[in-house]
Amino acid sequence: MILHEFTEPTTWLDAMVAGWETLGGPSLQARGTFHVSLSGGSTPKALYQRLASLKWPWSATRLYLGDERWVTPDHKDSNYRMVHEAFQGTGVHIERVHSEIGTAEIGARAYEKQIRNDLGDPPRFDLILLGIGDDGHTSSLFPETAALKEEKLLIAPNFVPKLGVWRITSTYTLLRYARAIWFVTRGPSKDPYIRALAQDDPKATFPAAKVRSDRGTIEIYHCTQP
Ligand code: 6PG
Repeated sequence: MILHEFTEPTTWLDAMVAGWETLGGPSLQARGTFHVSLSGGSTPKALYQRLASLKWPWSATRLYLGDERWVTPDHKDSNYRMVHEAFQGTGVHIERVHSEIGTAEIGARAYEKQIRNDLGDPPRFDLILLGIGDDGHTSSLFPETAALKEEKLLIAPNFVPKLGVWRITSTYTLLRYARAIWFVTRGPSKDPYIRALAQDDPKATFPAAKVRSDRGTIEIYHCTQP
């Protein structure tokens, strides 16, 4: 994996904006669209706000959530809410997970259907952004949870015992199809994982270490400053 490491946030964000333009331009040229799956949590919000200030063809861009907490879209923990707030004013389409109806299983099935409908089969995102949790999880693929073993589904429901909550998550199968994958991370707590990923450590067993790409690139954009 290619590691881009920065000691402070400005150059970290600048590099990702440049990368976004490098990937987005050809996608728009070749396919007329730029499909991006976004990570949740708190780290990426500064990137999303920075991207939202770009002069960018947002009408040809479609954003998806790589994972979602099973809460209503206005809930403080909702990834959709964080993304919607960050991209306010761009008019960009954000494909929301309908987490206010039914179960995570029904929601995951509906979201996968939407992704297949929009991106074809297999669905290849032009870019998938991922974070890494303090336990090495990525998307909502938490250690010792069922979705880690899911090979057929592209979006899976996943109960996370340690949090006592349901989520829906991209599976490793969906991630493999991506044209490009970025880990977007910040702060010393992610350091051990970043080192293991950058060295392609074969002994690394945390969920983020199991992310593979069939034909795309995997890059890490890490800011050491918390
Ligand atoms: C989520 C995320 C998750 C996140 C990590 C890191 O819904 O929580 O998608 O995978 O990326 O937990 O979160 P931070 O960036 O806030 O540390």
